Amino acid sequence: MHRIVIVAGSSRTDSQTAKVADFIRTTLINKHALAAEAVSIIDLGKQPLPLWPADDNGPWSEYETLLSAADAAIILAPEWHGMACPAIKNFFIYASKAQLAHKPAMLGAISAGVGGAFPISELRASSYKNCRLCYIPEHLIVRDVNHVMNGDEPESQADERLRQRLDYNLDVLLHYTRALAGIRPLIDMSNPAFTNGMS
Ligand SMILES: Cc1cc2nc3c(=O)[nH]c(=O)nc-3n(C[C@H](O)[C@H](O)[C@H](O)COP(=O)(O)O)c2cc1C
Repeated sequence: MHRIVIVAGSSRTDSQTAKVADFIRTTLINKHALAAEAVSIIDLGKQPLPLWPADDNGPWSEYETLLSAADAAIILAPEWHGMACPAIKNFFIYASKAQLAHKPAMLGAISAGVGGAFPISELRASSYKNCRLCYIPEHLIVRDVNHVMNGDEPESQADERLRQRLDYNLDVLLHYTRALAGIRPLIDMSNPAFTNGMS
């Protein structure tokens, strides 16, 4: 059984990003035949990680276990002031190749308006180097988030199109999940000369 962890990267306790994470989890279970126990959510709003470094790492050990057991990740980031929310950047200071290396991930950006391109661009550029997470080419930009992904039925054509896009992306992610599970045992990650990705 392949396991997927969805990281809801907003630091707000009741965020739209967490709503999207729930919607994606339900879609994976109902439309892509994943078992309920195979899909977990890390909600950085409800159970935040302290700003690194901290004396107490909060829920990190629980997250570390979930991420290490996962075969793929979905990384969701709200756009705040044209940036990825700081909570998801802080998450990537905690996370390392020990949990994430050579696992496929789908990126998703969340905007209440027509934003969302900036977090995709930012995280594709700067979050994966040392942890070696492998972003798939498909990503999701959830615009007008308050009016999409709210129930079983789409509210608009835009909502319907977004749900179709999500289904397509998840299908691609699951293909990568099966394929990359086979290459991880073949990759040497012990060479101390290449502990970090090249700067
Ligand atoms: C501090 C702050 C800055 C924001 N900046 C942007 C922005 O640059 N672009 C944008 O599309 N939405 C912006 N928003 C609105 C978010 O799109 C909106 O809050 C949305 O619900 C996603 O955030 P959430 O997951 O925390 O709910 C901002 C929200 C906050 C709280």
